Amino acid sequence: MKKIVPAFILLILPAATAVAVDADKLRAALAAIDTPRLVKAGAEPQNWLAHGRTYDEQRYSPLDKINDKNAKDLGLAWYFDTHTQRGLEATPIVVDGIIYTTGSWSVVFANDARTGKLIWQYDPQVPKAWGAKACCDVVNRGVAVYQGRLYVGTLDGRLVALDALTGKPAWEVNTIDRTKPYTITGAPRIVKGKVIIGNGGADYAVRGYVTAYDAATGKQVWRFYTVPGDPAQPPASRAMQVAAPTWKGAGEWLKIGGGGTVWDSMAYDPELDLLYIGVGNGSPWNRAIRSPGGGDNLFLSSIVALKPDTGEYVWHYQTTPGDNWDYTATQHMILADLEIAGRLRKVILQAPKNGFFYVLDRATGGFISAAPYVYVNWATGVDPKTGRPVETQEQYLKKDKLTFPSPFGAHNWHPMSFSPQTRLVYIPALDIPFMYSHVPGYRYNPRTWNVAVNPAAGAPKPDMDQMLDRKIARALAKGHLSAWDPVKQKEAWRVQHAGPWNGGVLSTAGNLVFQGTADGRLVAYAADTGKKLWEAPTQSGVIAPPVTYAVDGEQYVAVMAGWGGVFALVGGAGAEFAKHGPEGRLLAFKLGGKEKLPPYTPPVRLPEPPPLTAGEETLAKGGTLYHQHCFVCHGTHAVSASDVPDLRYMSAATHKSFPDIVLPGAYRDRGMPGFDGVLSREDAAAVHAYLVKRGHDELAEKHAASVWLAIKNIAYSIMAAAIKLLVSITS
Ligand code: HEC
Repeated sequence: MKKIVPAFILLILPAATAVAVDADKLRAALAAIDTPRLVKAGAEPQNWLAHGRTYDEQRYSPLDKINDKNAKDLGLAWYFDTHTQRGLEATPIVVDGIIYTTGSWSVVFANDARTGKLIWQYDPQVPKAWGAKACCDVVNRGVAVYQGRLYVGTLDGRLVALDALTGKPAWEVNTIDRTKPYTITGAPRIVKGKVIIGNGGADYAVRGYVTAYDAATGKQVWRFYTVPGDPAQPPASRAMQVAAPTWKGAGEWLKIGGGGTVWDSMAYDPELDLLYIGVGNGSPWNRAIRSPGGGDNLFLSSIVALKPDTGEYVWHYQTTPGDNWDYTATQHMILADLEIAGRLRKVILQAPKNGFFYVLDRATGGFISAAPYVYVNWATGVDPKTGRPVETQEQYLKKDKLTFPSPFGAHNWHPMSFSPQTRLVYIPALDIPFMYSHVPGYRYNPRTWNVAVNPAAGAPKPDMDQMLDRKIARALAKGHLSAWDPVKQKEAWRVQHAGPWNGGVLSTAGNLVFQGTADGRLVAYAADTGKKLWEAPTQSGVIAPPVTYAVDGEQYVAVMAGWGGVFALVGGAGAEFAKHGPEGRLLAFKLGGKEKLPPYTPPVRLPEPPPLTAGEETLAKGGTLYHQHCFVCHGTHAVSASDVPDLRYMSAATHKSFPDIVLPGAYRDRGMPGFDGVLSREDAAAVHAYLVKRGHDELAEKHAASVWLAIKNIAYSIMAAAIKLLVSITS
């Protein structure tokens, strides 16, 4: 942690005196955030006290000073650089003029919400090598605040309580088995004095659970496992009694844990006193390998309702029984009261990865309705009698068959928003297909993803015509903002984006919807019609959700801009349209804001590969190994659309030191794992040969593009000359 207490006094006091708030007063204000305050967080429009603003996670703000009439006058108020270039996914928390957020590697920032000035910063010192256990970038989705403290989960599985005034750690607990590839990227939630936190890792090999810790002491109160443990032992709880019979055969789940991680969404209903958790995919994805006797594999891909005091199971609803597709139900859940068929219903709303929008009774888990919110072909619909999807049986693992949605989902973690004004849910939707195909002779590998599906099978092949190929990849991968009517189960309007993987959503009483885009903009739309009202450049692609707050009567809209996340890492050519900025940032906008971002022009580079000498066989082997061990960070077919280096563009020096970087792991402390014991020297040489080939492919394409451009330019000048000649003759 930085020594910041003196800085705090320097930075905060001058500004604070202006509004007559001193450190003692601030400490008291922070300490006063207790359970009744959190239950009534909706009554404090100036603040953003909980992850989804309120326990119902609607992400709707009653602030309306910024509205559909004046949104065109929005401008940048301030920006703050995080000095990182990896993905930023956090929802900031705002308390009485202080904005708390997190960056890459779980670093926490406290800034003055009026000026963006840093008050303190806390770095939990996550070992960079832990990045190799993170499926989906070294991201963090934010902090929770309670009784004077902030709570953050770290990428390496710790839960840390900080003094919200100074950033000093109060306590820290380890939440995981440190020999397993667990990570924490989700924001903790505070319910009745307990900090609730899950974890990630199901694409590698873990057993999912969620734990509650006493907010005051860090002592564990309860732990709820989402999938059964050792079948030789009697089930440890009623939940496990329900789940155990749905796992069958001596499959990989016995060895690697079955998955079902609770890596992001939760919601809480104080009246029903139910905590809802969204459960993730199976380990591995392929059920035939995971649970060879079939079965629903509870509680994978389910919403589960628990008693927050004890972690006791109440009900579950499984969106994708026997998940075969990485169709998690960890997506954002919203609680709302809706009139459906003449009755006021307490519902829970979710648009999970599987492409169907669900409306469930949140008291009982009973099915109310479901409808596809994007193009879906893995199932024809959801049977209203059983609440189960009607799967198109022939679809799975068929060669050359594109399945919609992909493992990225029809909607991923990017939060939705529900406006009680328009009664619409705004979904950051994805339209990306995937070719599910078996990995012949799959074997568990502790150092990488264990999905038992070939992750690169659906991606366009580099040996096809590259330019055509990129066009196909781009044309197939799409994204849009969908305004969804949950009662009619119908889209009200949609905005098509340049590509997929755009930001989370905020709606406000000003009839506004805010969303950032992968191509580097923050945009405001009219909430009722979808009409675009305003946009501002953010330099980097935005994946995080915006929040809004007010200080001294002035309303702000703030968002983190930092392109990254799993689609940026593995999306390859399909993600190349996205913008990379020079910096990760927190940006805040207000009416009449006059601040400007420093100018930035992305560097232009050319690959400099050594001569290509390897034969076909080596190249093929290198390509296969690359897609087993490297593509999860460096991109499909070695096309990197994130800030992890594009290996087609290695410098001469890097080509030379390739074996040292890759085998012992010379850059281990920078998040580049070593592969000693996994790859032999020959293996590494084959991967290198494949990357050299990809560098040459890229040069050839750049050359072809410039030749084509030159031909076009010549053609235009001939045309122009001909027109001039024609004009001179006729006049
Ligand atoms: C968990 C993510 C991850 C995986 C998996 C991974 N890398 Fe990396 N790699 C990185 C990161 C991050 C960097 C950048 C480190 C830095 O310099 O900051 C990097 C850098 C490199 C570099 C240096 C590039 C340069 O231009 O400086 C090489 C070479 C490399 N990786 C090769 C590989 C190979 C080959 C594989 C597979 C065998 C692989 N990496 C797997 C994350 C990863």
